[in-house]
This record gives sequence, structure tokens and C-alpha cells, in this order.
Amino acid sequence: MTFRAKHLLGIEPLHPTEITTLLDLADSYAEHNRRGIAHRDVLAGLTQINMFFENSTRTQASFELAGKRLGADVMNMGMQASSVKKGETLIDTALTLNAMRPDLLVVRHPHSGAVDLLAQKVNCAVLNAGDGKHEHPTQALLDALTIRRAKGRLHRLSIAICGDIAHSRVARSNIMLLGKMENRIRLIAPPTLMPSGVADFGVEVFENMEEGLKDVDVVMMLRLQKERMDGGFIPSEREYFHRYGLDAAKLAHAKPDAIVMHPGPMNRGVEIDGNIADDINRSVIQEQVEMGVAVRMAAMDLLAQNLRAARGPQEVMV
Ligand code: NCD
Repeated sequence: MTFRAKHLLGIEPLHPTEITTLLDLADSYAEHNRRGIAHRDVLAGLTQINMFFENSTRTQASFELAGKRLGADVMNMGMQASSVKKGETLIDTALTLNAMRPDLLVVRHPHSGAVDLLAQKVNCAVLNAGDGKHEHPTQALLDALTIRRAKGRLHRLSIAICGDIAHSRVARSNIMLLGKMENRIRLIAPPTLMPSGVADFGVEVFENMEEGLKDVDVVMMLRLQKERMDGGFIPSEREYFHRYGLDAAKLAHAKPDAIVMHPGPMNRGVEIDGNIADDINRSVIQEQVEMGVAVRMAAMDLLAQNLRAARGPQEVMV
């Protein structure tokens, strides 16, 4: 088994064998979760602090559930009510928390790079739960596990990532992960929502959904991330849905057994037709949420093993 990382800050530094190790462990956690088998000894005696400086529903809930299922003491910091509002800097908040000796720190922050900076200041394992437009590694890992379970493999697949790519950390992490695993990636977006320099990613680029979706195995839709837009990127939501929203007619261009994904939260009728999202024969959106818990359990398990090995047995609090 190989997983050497001290933190999970992004997909970029991970080796394909580390990704496979993590997904294999997550797969077994997914099965155990379905059968109700508990593993409360894995993180017993360890403290996990969740610091979310940005709104989150499923990511925060699944990190909390993952930690509790593995027996960690989990604390959620309400960042809205914290000293950040009184002007404390990120680094000072981090140093304060570090003095409380957490073992696992889960951080979401609106600024790209903020989580990497924080990881340099603390003595525990840091997990990036999404930093600005930069990375969202556990989302890409849970997407990968969902694809692997649905398709039976995670290589030589044709995968379309569609919509607001320019503002999406989910897209960035997925492009890196799916590229490392040797898949063919197609990006489909209007020019205003396509990041510059995208050709360097080794992907195919399309402006038209019908062309881009032709014969793909996986259709990954993205939310229009209005909170990161500082102007008009689309003419109107109605027009956007007409050209880029996933409906039955556009999906008909993909392979007949193509799966439909969305990281959530979804804007029904904007980037995806509600009927497609709810179609249990095509949509794996609920499975993505389920895999989210398993992937976060696996990530924290592996990081905790490395942390314990680095600290030596005498230092672990029990
Ligand atoms: C994503 C995020 O926060 O980046 N959501 C998530 O983690 N499930 C995508 C989004 O907000 O659109």
C-alpha cells in the first residue's frame, strides 16, 4: 500500500498509485457503510476540527459523519461567529487552533491557496475541503469512486465536464485526477466560462453541447457559480439552459449507458433538467453523496496512519 502524503491539499501532488490506494480503501468503507459495520477504533483518540469559512452542506456534513464513524472527536467551528469576524487573520486563527492540538484539520476557504498556507503553520494533517477556484480534492476523489463503481474502471473513459469551468475548483481537481488516470477529457462551456490556457491541460474543448457530448461515457455537470462572478457571464439563465442545460435531447448524444453527475448544490432548470437529475437509470448524483462519506473516511484514515507513524506511538493521546 502506498499513500505517503502528510496533507490532502489537492490532487496535483498525488501519484496515481496513491489515488488508487485511497479509492480502494474508500470502496471497502462504502460497502461497510451499507452493511452498518462500524470502525470507531480507526480515529479513536484523535481530534478533528472542521473550519468552513464558506457555506457548505454536503461537504461539511460528510466530513463530520466520516470522522464520527471512525471514532474521532469532531468539532465544527462556526466561522461566521468566530473571531474572524473581529478581524483576526487566517494565520492567527490557525495558530490558536493549533495550540489546542488537533490531529486533523478540515478547511474550506474562499481564497485559492489559503489552505496550503495554513498547512504550513500547523502540526496536524490538513484536508482541503475547497479553496477558492483552486482545488477540491475530496470531491474529485468521490467523483472518481462513483465513476469506477458505475463503469467498472477508471481509465480509457471519455468524460465531458460541462458548464461553469472557469469558476470551478471541482473541474480543476477532476481534470487533474481523471487525466492522471488516463481518461479522455472534454470540456464544454461558453467561451466566457472557459478558463484561459485550458489547452495546457491536455483536454479537448467544445463550445457546443451536442458535439462535445458525442459518445461520452460520463457527463459531469457544474453549477453556475454566481458568487464568483463579477459581471455578466451569461445572457440569461433561460438562454443558458437552452444552450448548455442538460436535458434529454442533449443527453441523447452521449453513449446510451452514459452516467450523469453533479457535485451539488444543483440549480434545476439552469444547468440541468430536474427530470434528468432524478432519473435513477442515468443519474448517479445520490451515489456521489454516498461516496463522499466513504472517500472522506479513507482520506482521514490514511492521513492519520501517516501522522501516527511520524509522531511515534508515545505521543498519541488515548
Ligand atoms: C462544490 C463546491 O463547493 O465547490 N460543491 C460541493 O462541494 N459539493 C461545487 C459548487 O459549489 O458548485
